Amino acid sequence: MPLVSIVVPTYKEAENLQALCESVDQVLGAENLAYELLIVDDQSPDDTVNIARSLAEKYPLRLIQPAGRSRDLSLSVLDGIREASSDVVVVMDADLSHPVTKIPQLVAAVEEDTFVAGSRYAKGGKFDRGWSFWRFLNSWFATLMALPFTSCSDPMTGFFALRKQDLNELKRFRPIGYKIALELMVRGEFKKIVEIPIEFKDRAVGKSKMNLQQQINYLRHLRRLYLYKFRAWAEFIHYGAVGASGFVVDVSCYYLLQLFGIDHRAARAISFWPAVSWNWALNRITTFGERERRPRARQWFEFVATSLIGYSLNWGIYVTLTSSSEFFDQYRILALMSGIVGASIFNFTASTLFVYSEKRGS
Ligand code: GDD
Ligand code: MN
Repeated sequence: MPLVSIVVPTYKEAENLQALCESVDQVLGAENLAYELLIVDDQSPDDTVNIARSLAEKYPLRLIQPAGRSRDLSLSVLDGIREASSDVVVVMDADLSHPVTKIPQLVAAVEEDTFVAGSRYAKGGKFDRGWSFWRFLNSWFATLMALPFTSCSDPMTGFFALRKQDLNELKRFRPIGYKIALELMVRGEFKKIVEIPIEFKDRAVGKSKMNLQQQINYLRHLRRLYLYKFRAWAEFIHYGAVGASGFVVDVSCYYLLQLFGIDHRAARAISFWPAVSWNWALNRITTFGERERRPRARQWFEFVATSLIGYSLNWGIYVTLTSSSEFFDQYRILALMSGIVGASIFNFTASTLFVYSEKRGS
């Protein structure tokens, strides 16, 4: 039984595999660490697979070729972990960006409920500074958006180690794209995150597969994680954004109708309807898109009903505040805002509890 399983996702890494094998074998051999190398290849159109097969004759290498899903780095890593025969698992890139010499340190730091991250930002960690300003900004922004999730200084890392046992059900992880470490840290319930400083080198051969599609995937992945960790807040903010867009629809219709000669009071009464329907539809598709698909007409009716109550509340708060308090009468905008806040809380609560109900069994 190997002591450590090293999972390496590959896509078009033909030129890097040989050097990777040599260097892993040398470093781990020197430390007397028995290992297996799991190459998880996503149907590379180059020679990766053939080269991996021939390297398997010389090194403890296993080739894994997942089928039946679209190409994805994170899912490949999960496939590799599923196949790992040792409890200690190290994940790293094939392109020699990650220092092989640090593997023993990562392995040594692994213990129960601990996620060990190879970090470029930890004290002593380094970058190849060949990065363009644009790529730097990109990475900085990506890291910033992951800040609410973890104390790890480098949640974007692709070099890490953990105990397979600590992950128990692999099915509960739902990553998309590149940020598998972030996914594991957020959903993995680790008690401790240990950071090992690493020097990240830009690849010498081959090309990075990071592209715009992967960046969009990161946003989709983040959305999933925000919903998972801060569900109520994420939905509330989303709901608020939908509400704001509905306000634009409302005001536009209000003016448009008057342009067609309709009286301003009638315009006000009518514009509520397209706006409330817009909000209902958008919430159905986006904010609460993953909830039960209830019959449209009935859900629309309930949404309108709660919105009408919300609207009365909005108006009631305004009138009560301005007529009972001199302060609010002087600063009417504050009364108006209090009305909106009160109504929004009411609307959101009603929506989340009744109008868009949870999927049965979830
Ligand atoms: N199986 C599989 N499927 N492997 C893939 C896929 C895929 O769809 N896409 C990329 N890989 C493999 C590559 O062959 C390489 O071994 C590793 O995943 C990283 O891919 P790169 O294309 O070299 O990514 P990068 O250098 O831009 O990004 C790396 O550094 C980032 C931090 O700057 C990765 O480690 C990222 O996870 C990390 O965030
Ligand atoms: Mn790379």
